[in-house]
Amino acid sequence: MRTQVGIIGSGPSGLLLARLLQLQGIDTVIVESRSREYVAGRIRAGVIEQGMADLLREARAGERMDREGLIHEGINIAFDGRLERIDFPKHTNGKVVMVYGQTEITHDLMKAHIDEAGGIVYYEASAVRVDDYDTKSPRIIYERNGQQKELVCDFVAGCDGFHGVARRSIPNNKITTFERTYPFGWLGILSDVPPVKDELIYANHERGFALCSMRSHTRSRYYVQCEIDDKVENWTDDAFWEELCRRLPPDAAENVTTGPRLEMSITPLHSFVAEPMRFGRLFLAGDAAHIVPPTGAKGLNLAASDIYYLSRALLAYYKDKRSSPVDKRSTPQSGSVDKRTDLLDRYSETALRRVWKAIRFSWWYTSLLHKFDDDPLSRRLQISELDYLTSSDAGRTMIAENYVGLPYEKFE
Ligand code: FAD
Ligand code: DHB
Repeated sequence: MRTQVGIIGSGPSGLLLARLLQLQGIDTVIVESRSREYVAGRIRAGVIEQGMADLLREARAGERMDREGLIHEGINIAFDGRLERIDFPKHTNGKVVMVYGQTEITHDLMKAHIDEAGGIVYYEASAVRVDDYDTKSPRIIYERNGQQKELVCDFVAGCDGFHGVARRSIPNNKITTFERTYPFGWLGILSDVPPVKDELIYANHERGFALCSMRSHTRSRYYVQCEIDDKVENWTDDAFWEELCRRLPPDAAENVTTGPRLEMSITPLHSFVAEPMRFGRLFLAGDAAHIVPPTGAKGLNLAASDIYYLSRALLAYYKDKRSSPVDKRSTPQSGSVDKRTDLLDRYSETALRRVWKAIRFSWWYTSLLHKFDDDPLSRRLQISELDYLTSSDAGRTMIAENYVGLPYEKFE
């Protein structure tokens, strides 16, 4: 079996790439280890930057998001008995974020790409490795129905998340990784209750961090910092609500509506980057290449910016190739730029420049808001930094422009 772009993983990265290429007449096949129902049911991120929202519109999968998503013009930061609001449009020249769940995005992309346009996804097909990534015919080796098969491609996109096989197909001496594990996790609840406030609250509290988020006017998502080895089984719904309320300012705590869980889970917090993100004709994107701690909601948005760069690079390759076939072209002179592969060649460098800025912001925002130890000096320093940031125009601007998302580099 052969395709132009073979994609491993049908999370948001893989589906978005396949859909953007499909709209330009480029063939893809996605190989996904889980079932469609499993992928569609995963509860994850909820805040979308404007760049990602625009990309979903370009993918013609943004209609429901524009109808049902909630536009948020600010966030609240609670600390030391105060609640400070950061106004996004005021500090970013009019930018906002959209609250719309990753679960809904996945659903919308599946509908547009698979159900309406016949895009090919092999579910319950596990990639085993990528072979020949440094030749013109890289191959995805995968297992389906107990049989080993191969997909021969022009290019392979490794969109298979942190535990995927694409990154692991590269020899250790060709890849550099940077990693930090934080000494705590997030315990999250999803519940059909109205949100405590119309905008998110990030709380720094002496008992640990808490976050009030939402999926709609009737569905809330809340998190509390927990021990790294904590288990969901240790928490009743009542214990969760009690702990959340203890960490919020009294006015907010009084407004919390409690209810039974739809879902409860624990997320560990990591920072991770693999460099480079391109190996011959294998390109890594999204969580396959980098992980951020969830504070600041950058994971999903970074996956989208990778796909923005990768889709532009592949389109430049195929479009130019169509108008002037490769075999009729003279080899570019040394020192000149091959317009056909230029963006593919620059993919890793361009994507990583934005990745590192989000890694930095997520690390910093995590450090500012969580309880790391019982040291009273650390706590006073956090409170003092929050006091400084929220009393300074420059401080508010720094938070706002990172939160709404740094701009994507544009190409002609
Ligand atoms: P993924 O969504 O991980 O998709 C990868 C896909 O590849 C999966 O479908 C997987 O089944 C498939 N796959 C893996 N291995 C193979 C294989 N060998 N063969 C075939 N297929 C394979 N981000 C936020 O911004 N805010 C949040 O609140 C937040 N919460 C999160 C909670 C959890 C529990 C997790 C794990 C992540 C969370 N994130 C959050 C991060 C965000 O969800 C990810 O950044 C985003 O899902 C990345 O998309 P992706 O497509 O790159 O990877
Ligand atoms: C959500 C998660 C985040 O990490 C965050 O910073 C904001 C919102 C959420 O799941 O809604």
